[in-house]
Amino acid sequence: MKQKQPLKSGEKILLSVFGVFFVLACIGYVILESVRLTSDKPMFQQTTFFDFSPEGKMGAGIYQASNCNACHRSMRSGTSMGLSLDGIGSKRSVEWLEAFLGDPENVYGAPTIDHGMRPKEAAFISDMSAEDRRLLAVYLSELRAVPGSSVAKVPPPEHSEFIDTMVKAWAPADWQHKYEDIRVRIKREQAEESEINE
Ligand code: HEC
Repeated sequence: MKQKQPLKSGEKILLSVFGVFFVLACIGYVILESVRLTSDKPMFQQTTFFDFSPEGKMGAGIYQASNCNACHRSMRSGTSMGLSLDGIGSKRSVEWLEAFLGDPENVYGAPTIDHGMRPKEAAFISDMSAEDRRLLAVYLSELRAVPGSSVAKVPPPEHSEFIDTMVKAWAPADWQHKYEDIRVRIKREQAEESEINE
């Protein structure tokens, strides 16, 4: 019979290091979960929210039935592998979303992976009725994000010293002629809108 070989000292050290890491990970997990379950404050700041109109609710039904969550994430569920659509309504307009669903490649202006013509996997969206695509777009446009969060297009409402410093430090001077600061643009658009409404 073969005798069991005793562990070499290098192996013992390696195993003990693994063991220590494993025990620390377990302790960390237990602490994390117990803090999370007992704390009354949310652990992560919630930056996306939604409030659906009747049409948005109909769109949500179509979204569920079409299994968009096989590739996407919305209302905090779905898959984390693809694009998260939470907050997309603060980045894209309802017109953009409707146009994208109907004619993805042209609206992107670049090759797409899954949306577009067959045999792309999300090609089934082109077979939907235009009304269904519109309802989907309404639903998506009602997935909003808090201004200043990573998914929102607009910066935080209050003045940000940090953004000003970064723009000054990193934006080349000629960009100031080529592009408009989004904070200035939003104010300009709001002023234009109120002029129209007057
Ligand atoms: C097979 C995977 C897949 C499925 C199914 C799918 N998508 Fe997508 N979706 C993508 C990918 C990948 C992109 C990025 C564009 C591309 O390359 O096609 C995208 C992009 C998008 C965008 C544009 C996001 C942006 O801001 O650029 C929207 C909106 C969208 N999908 C909505 C939907 C809806 C609604 C459905 C269900 C009706 C759906 N998708 C089903 C994979 C998928």
